Amino acid sequence: MDTLPRLISVFCLLLVSSNTLRAFQQTVSIDTITVVNVFPHDPQAFTQGLLYAGNDSLFESTGDYGKSSVRKVALHTGKVEKLQKMDDSLFGEGLTLHGDRLIQVAWLQTNGFIYDPKNLSEIGTFNHDMKDGWGLATDGKVLFGSDGSSSLYKIDPQTFKTVSKQVVYYKGHQVHFLNELEYINGEVWANVIPTDCIARISPNDGLVVGWILLQSLWKELIEAGNTDINVLNGIAWDAEQERIFVTGKLWPELYEIKVTPIKSTIEEGMVEKLCLPKPFNSA
Ligand SMILES: *[C@@H]1O[C@H](CO)[C@@H](O)[C@H](O)[C@H]1NC(C)=O
Ligand SMILES: *[C@@H]1O[C@H](CO)[C@@H](O)[C@H](O)[C@H]1NC(C)=O
Repeated sequence: MDTLPRLISVFCLLLVSSNTLRAFQQTVSIDTITVVNVFPHDPQAFTQGLLYAGNDSLFESTGDYGKSSVRKVALHTGKVEKLQKMDDSLFGEGLTLHGDRLIQVAWLQTNGFIYDPKNLSEIGTFNHDMKDGWGLATDGKVLFGSDGSSSLYKIDPQTFKTVSKQVVYYKGHQVHFLNELEYINGEVWANVIPTDCIARISPNDGLVVGWILLQSLWKELIEAGNTDINVLNGIAWDAEQERIFVTGKLWPELYEIKVTPIKSTIEEGMVEKLCLPKPFNSA
């Protein structure tokens, strides 16, 4: 390194905290998807939580008042094999499996629900200290939670207390509206509502390490006449067969996808435009 750039970088290091600097310097992969398989999905399911349940089946949490539920769904047919309806006053949100407990949060609630994964009977409730209940995932040790803000929470799966929380950043921008979560190979993947982007987040420091652009799914569904669909939401990971599944709220289809490098050039500012919604309180 030449003396001048070195001096400049030392000067910069003094000015900028190392974390902020890393946030700006991070290398972020930007990928798109290819669809490997298309499966039927209940078009009445306002999908808020999704996870792979083994044996070609999924656990799903659905929202909307009067229609919220926890269900077990057959992957190939989309058939709802077991269903636990929630109280009409509740709006189901994120769902995860920790040990032999299916754990669910609900919209505008700080209480959540625990179900037996075998028959989906409710076996307990809990209180969490996120502002709201949006997404849940787990690495088997902690629960990861989101509440619609830019914070990713780490939650103790026994006490449901927040262990730590991190603001999620992409190149110095906060990533607001983190929604459905999934833990995949050491990363937390998050749907960013209302976009067609999935943020791949490092749970160590909250930095976005990659974006997956899924705009093609929504576009094709709309073009096929599914005009009543809502946003992309729901990521499930089959660790054994390394399969990724995604769907959306009221989507008639669920997709097995592969992450593939983007072919077109990525214009400056494109990710910011596609994937970073402004928070409600900003002008
Ligand atoms: C796997 O799913 C099939 C079809 O739903 C069911 O008949 C079978 O009992 C399941 N096997 C296990 C081990 O759960
Ligand atoms: C659900 O299964 C558990 C055992 O896993 C059992 O104790 C419980 O009685 C079952 N609940 C219902 C409603 O069948």
